[in-house]
Amino acid sequence: MLGISHFACFSPVVVESLLLALLLVGSFSPVECFHFNYPLFNESTENDFHLMRSEIAVNAIQVTHDVSGSPITNLSGQALYKRPFKLWSESKGTASFNTTFVFRITPRTDPGGEGLAFILTGHATRPENSEGKWLGIVNASTNGSAQNQIVAVEFDTRKSYMEDLSNNHIGVNVNSVYSIKQANLSINLSSGTDITVKVQYDGKILSAFVGTQMKAPAIALPINLPEHLPQKVFVGFSASTGNHTQLNCVSSWEFSGLSVDEDPDLLWVWIMVPVTVLVSGVAFYFSWKCKCAKQEEEEDDPWVEQQIQGSSTAPRKFRLKELKTATENFNSKNELGKGGFGRVYKGFLKNKEVAVKRFSRNSHQSKQDFIAEVTTISNLHHKNLVKLVGWCYEKRELLLIYEFMPNTSLDKLIFYKKSDEENPITLNWETRYGIICGVAQALDYLHNGCEKRVLHRDIKASNIMLDSDFNARLGDFGLARIIQQSDYTHHSTKEIAGTPGYMAPESFHTGRAAVETDVYAFGVLVLEVVCGRKPGDQSVNNKYNNGIVDWVWEYYRRQRILDVVDLRLNGVFRKEQTEYALMLALSCCHPNPYQRPSMRISLRVLTGEVDPPVIPIEKPPFVWPATPPVSFREDLEYPPTGGLLSPPSELIGR
Ligand SMILES: *[C@@H]1O[C@H](CO)[C@@H](O)[C@H](O)[C@H]1NC(C)=O
Ligand SMILES: *[C@@H]1O[C@H](CO)[C@@H](O)[C@H](O)[C@H]1NC(C)=O
Ligand SMILES: *[C@@H]1O[C@H](CO)[C@@H](O)[C@H](O)[C@H]1NC(C)=O
Ligand SMILES: *[C@@H]1O[C@H](CO)[C@@H](O)[C@H](O)[C@H]1NC(C)=O
Ligand SMILES: *[C@@H]1O[C@H](CO)[C@@H](O)[C@H](O)[C@H]1NC(C)=O
Ligand SMILES: *[C@@H]1O[C@H](CO)[C@@H](O)[C@H](O)[C@H]1NC(C)=O
Ligand SMILES: *[C@@H]1O[C@H](CO)[C@@H](O)[C@H](O)[C@H]1NC(C)=O
Ligand SMILES: *[C@@H]1O[C@H](CO)[C@@H](O)[C@H](O)[C@H]1NC(C)=O
Repeated sequence: MLGISHFACFSPVVVESLLLALLLVGSFSPVECFHFNYPLFNESTENDFHLMRSEIAVNAIQVTHDVSGSPITNLSGQALYKRPFKLWSESKGTASFNTTFVFRITPRTDPGGEGLAFILTGHATRPENSEGKWLGIVNASTNGSAQNQIVAVEFDTRKSYMEDLSNNHIGVNVNSVYSIKQANLSINLSSGTDITVKVQYDGKILSAFVGTQMKAPAIALPINLPEHLPQKVFVGFSASTGNHTQLNCVSSWEFSGLSVDEDPDLLWVWIMVPVTVLVSGVAFYFSWKCKCAKQEEEEDDPWVEQQIQGSSTAPRKFRLKELKTATENFNSKNELGKGGFGRVYKGFLKNKEVAVKRFSRNSHQSKQDFIAEVTTISNLHHKNLVKLVGWCYEKRELLLIYEFMPNTSLDKLIFYKKSDEENPITLNWETRYGIICGVAQALDYLHNGCEKRVLHRDIKASNIMLDSDFNARLGDFGLARIIQQSDYTHHSTKEIAGTPGYMAPESFHTGRAAVETDVYAFGVLVLEVVCGRKPGDQSVNNKYNNGIVDWVWEYYRRQRILDVVDLRLNGVFRKEQTEYALMLALSCCHPNPYQRPSMRISLRVLTGEVDPPVIPIEKPPFVWPATPPVSFREDLEYPPTGGLLSPPSELIGR
């Protein structure tokens, strides 16, 4: 051929550099390294994954939860690597990848079920009702639909329908649980031992090698993945249990892919290549080969949008441009406040005033708080909750749009300040009591009134907004979590969250939030509103600074409880109502969480239907673990559901 005879005329050195140049063109244009390696998993790797009903425990990903000893039936879970992998592009074709992982399936019933799968998927959401034979991949209504955008290599430990070969097979599934190809395995998947699997895709053939058989693939088939999957996919695992159950663990995982390049600029390549060859060709080539840099371009994480759109009542999405105009480009003169999450700005949208909450950028925590806030609050409707108008996620800006509250937040009005002396704005008793009742109603709704129980986890004065009539509107759902009965080890309950001064003493031991910890914070809030004081005694450097609780309890002991009432009320308040509110607040702050009333009961105390719970004269010491009361009174009207502890309380009808 002409080219070759032409080459033959050059000296070997020139030929070599030309070949190197060609090699470089080949490596430059279509590919980008995408590599990660987890020899084990631990808490510090938790944030690298979207864990959906799955968790990291004992140095492994438990793709379905496991509570040792008691088999948990009917679960499904997914664990996906957070960064999406660019699988294909119009101009650059299809990527290739190799991945090796070790899994261990331990039967918890005899026999176990159902299976584990390595998946590539366009959606970072776990399909609902994908337990049992659905392997966490699809469910009865989505099985077979191209919209699933999922390809799975399944390790099936149960023959759950006719077409399944056996209770020990591998299969490749596209958008369904039905395998387009499957094979019996000689290795026992359910043996409870480590099994190493290598899955390989070269752009045409998908193959998997299992166990010690690394020479011949257990399964191999030609498949054009771009036909079934979007350009960017998430990689990870899914698993399920059914009536039969097993522990599905992945204990190590390495993934190495050559994803297709984002912005091919061929001209640039053609200019750069000869220069690179001359300057540092060889060194560059090798350094590129050895080190897969973590040079992921910073772009919007599709997970955020998927989580929000996947929630049943997604609120309106705004454009960043609109919000920039509305807030005059986040002008500091429009700033309403700031907190750990970021800042809040006042804005004008088509002559309507709104509050725009702008999250601090770039942290995974921000994204999680953002998603929690959008998805929890958009499903809630109550007159004592602030209303979410919409959201925006663009150019890595996370923004929430709320209705504007003209009277700002409670902390701005309730606490005594020196500067107030000249121009005192004092909320009168009726307004204060109305605020307390409003917050109680909002919390009772969250705990007992909506479809799924919600913990707010950050009740405090600065999160109580006041509307034009000074009605309380509970806001800031950044820490809120939905509690589901089936969520045995919901990860949010493991994190200590909240604000010092409002945190129940046991939360430092359990590290968990429960309805009782919200009740505690509510008690502190009531004390603040009645006394006009901040919760913590700033002079005491105590981690659960319960200064105000001790202080009020001391006055109660000395039978002078009304002496704690804010002097700015000038004695104008309803004595019995105030006394009951204070006693309710103390019972909410009882050191023993079992002794705290539920929000439902608290609300009935506030409306005067029942007397406040009886509280001891001396504040009992905090004892951990807390002991349940001896005479546990079953109160059928308020079954103790969901929280870690039940909320029994003596009820005395009036
Ligand atoms: C946690 O896991 C990562 C990745 O497997 C590892 O690099 C790191 O050393 C582990 N940390 C601990 C404390 O074991
Ligand atoms: C598991 O789910 C199946 C079907 O969804 C149901 O028939 C079965 O009773 C469930 N098993 C348990 C133990 O909940
Ligand atoms: C995957 O492994 C095969 C065989 O070991 C190798 O030829 C190929 O280059 C690897 N691909 C990637 C993307 O690492
Ligand atoms: C299947 O999953 C989808 C997506 O999660 C959900 O919308 C649908 O209701 C589920 N179908 C059933 C039968 O559970
Ligand atoms: C799931 O869908 C496939 C079509 O993709 C169908 O062949 C199979 O029978 C379905 N499986 C079940 C259990 O419905
Ligand atoms: C797979 O294994 C099952 C049970 O062990 C057996 O009945 C079936 O014939 C096997 N199928 C193939 C294709 O080897
Ligand atoms: C696989 O291992 C499990 C656990 O040791 C055992 O109960 C089961 O009988 C084994 N299955 C086969 C086909 O040997
Ligand atoms: C699970 O068990 C229940 C009863 O224990 C039975 O009604 C149901 O059909 C079983 N489900 C499957 C998928 O085998």
